[in-house]
Amino acid sequence: MQLNSSISAVITGGASGLGRATAKLLASHGVKVAIFDLQEDLGEALASEIGGVFCKVNVTSTPEVDAAFAKARAAIGQERILVNCAGIGGGAARTASRDRQTGEVKEYPLENFERIIQVNLIGTFRCITKSTAGMLTLEPLPDGDRGAIVNTASVAAEDGQIGQVAYTASKAGIVGMTLVVARDLSGEGVRVNTILPGIFDTPLLQRASEAVKAALSAQVPFPKRLGMPEEFAQLAHTMITNSYFNGEDVRLDGAIRMAPR
Ligand SMILES: NC(=O)c1ccc[n+]([C@@H]2O[C@H](COP(=O)([O-])OP(=O)(O)OC[C@H]3O[C@@H](n4cnc5c(N)ncnc54)[C@H](O)[C@@H]3O)[C@@H](O)[C@H]2O)c1
Repeated sequence: MQLNSSISAVITGGASGLGRATAKLLASHGVKVAIFDLQEDLGEALASEIGGVFCKVNVTSTPEVDAAFAKARAAIGQERILVNCAGIGGGAARTASRDRQTGEVKEYPLENFERIIQVNLIGTFRCITKSTAGMLTLEPLPDGDRGAIVNTASVAAEDGQIGQVAYTASKAGIVGMTLVVARDLSGEGVRVNTILPGIFDTPLLQRASEAVKAALSAQVPFPKRLGMPEEFAQLAHTMITNSYFNGEDVRLDGAIRMAPR
């Protein structure tokens, strides 16, 4: 897929971090970008900076997602690109735990599990199915591409750490979807790939102290630093523009393999 001003993109979680860097990179190639996010101030500011449109949306809500796609398509046309970056962490707890002093036993709080699956996994799939339904109304481009989708999982999908069962399950679900969605859409010219980021320097980590950042950086074999959002955007760009890239889950992590904790 060649990027130019005839191409539109939707980027969920595009107001911040990895999605923001991807929005800026695509816009620098002329692509018209719609930012789907909860964060109105950041999203509106970025949209005006890059000449795009901001759509306030919670990806867990079907009516809000429908309204956001309608607004985006009215403003910039039917998208050929969807980049799913909206996601949350948190909910850390062991599968079950026992207090060694009191003997008290606790189950994992299932509401945390449901919340994280709703945003990260079902929110991603909701945007995939609704975006591809729109893409299928377009004619393919000269190279045969009708559309391209990039999802964001995490190295946690493969190296889940203690307490991260909900986040890991949500991201492993995204990894598991990649090939089947690519196969589902293979007759229609829509490609689907997923990035598994290691530890990236996004607003989440920018709040961490320099000592914490240094400790995280030291765990990365090479280069010994956190990933930069622009490096994520560069891989998303390759997945979108290289027409032979399809059905792949790719780690982008400086060779880190997360320890149990
Ligand atoms: N930063 C990392 O080290 C890292 C590592 C692995 C995976 N990831 C994944 O990358 C993605 C982007 O993370 P980031 O680091 O850029 O974080 P971020 O917090 O900077 O950006 C995430 C964006 O998603 C938006 N969002 C969250 N829930 C939403 C919802 N329900 N509806 C709409 N928008 C919502 C947030 O408002 C935010 O703007 C996430 O899926 C995260 O799990 C990040």
